[in-house]
Amino acid sequence: MRDDISRIKEIKSKLGSDLLILAHHYQRDEIVALADAVGDSLKLAQIAQQNKKAKYIVFCGVHFMAETADILSEEYQRVFLPAVDAGCPMADMADREGSEKAWDIIASELGGNVIPITYVNSKAEVKAFCGEHGGTVVTSGNAQSVVKWGLENGDRVFFLPDQNLGRNTALSLGVKREHTALYDRKEGRLIYGCAPEDVRMILWDGFCHVHHRITPDIVNKARQADPEAKIVVHPECPLETVELCDGSGSTEYLINAVKNGAPGSRWIVGTEFNLVNRLKALCPDKDIKILDTASVCTNMSKTNTENLCDTLEQILAGDHSRLVTVDDNTAKNAVKALDKMLSLS
Ligand code: 13P
Ligand code: SF4
Repeated sequence: MRDDISRIKEIKSKLGSDLLILAHHYQRDEIVALADAVGDSLKLAQIAQQNKKAKYIVFCGVHFMAETADILSEEYQRVFLPAVDAGCPMADMADREGSEKAWDIIASELGGNVIPITYVNSKAEVKAFCGEHGGTVVTSGNAQSVVKWGLENGDRVFFLPDQNLGRNTALSLGVKREHTALYDRKEGRLIYGCAPEDVRMILWDGFCHVHHRITPDIVNKARQADPEAKIVVHPECPLETVELCDGSGSTEYLINAVKNGAPGSRWIVGTEFNLVNRLKALCPDKDIKILDTASVCTNMSKTNTENLCDTLEQILAGDHSRLVTVDDNTAKNAVKALDKMLSLS
């Protein structure tokens, strides 16, 4: 029987710098241990753009991340996704056709200079839509600075697909909750909390099922059970949840917040369980708990040593069946949006 881990290490040393294995923080421990770099979406996108050596980039994450790496990498670099069906349900909540429809409704009801900004957790075609209309992309690690740019350079920002990251970012920049409008994608209509001319941000009604279910009630119970603990969450959680917590930010932020905490401090972390479990092992001097035990992203867990090893064997054999590619026209417009983001980060 094949020993996946030994074989992966063997192929890694054979391919040397021709191979780059990237892993998101939500990956399983054994995958993180085999990766050349681990990070949040922003860090991984920056690495994919800066690395000019690797011919093969193997992305241990979900589909939109591999697409982003393909758009940002050079023509001679190829990006592979070991778990071919690892998608992000939130990214699937928005497509180009729906974005165009919303864009027309916004133009006819609100007018003005609207800047479209998509969360990196989106399809390449949605990034291309933003690039074509003078907009950009955000990650949870740079949302504040990028949305600030959008609000300063336009009358309003159209933010897709995560309503929670959009609302949390808007509030952190001083945009009142009532000055955001929600776009109901099923009904194809805008829901207002104020007069149309006062709308500063229009939020697509998508969400991440892993974080959206972390309600204020869950935070209140955790607080009651352990009043001394600091509670930190990912900004894909609802605004009412984030408001009750001690901090919120990207996966990289969450790791650093806990790591830099005082020895003996107590932490309750609201994000995916693979990351929280790893944090416990990384910081044995702290008391760390997960906020919601149901925080599992099944798509992130689809990458395992077996499909990673299969991918590397296929690369050696010249079989590109796990290749992720973005067509030239989509990539040309999506890269405008991504480059703008990286220049603002
Ligand atoms: P980060 O960019 O914070 O790593 O988040 C990615 C993600 O998918 C969170 O659900
Ligand atoms: Fe998508 Fe949520 Fe999974 Fe992140 S945790 S990849 S946003 S489903």
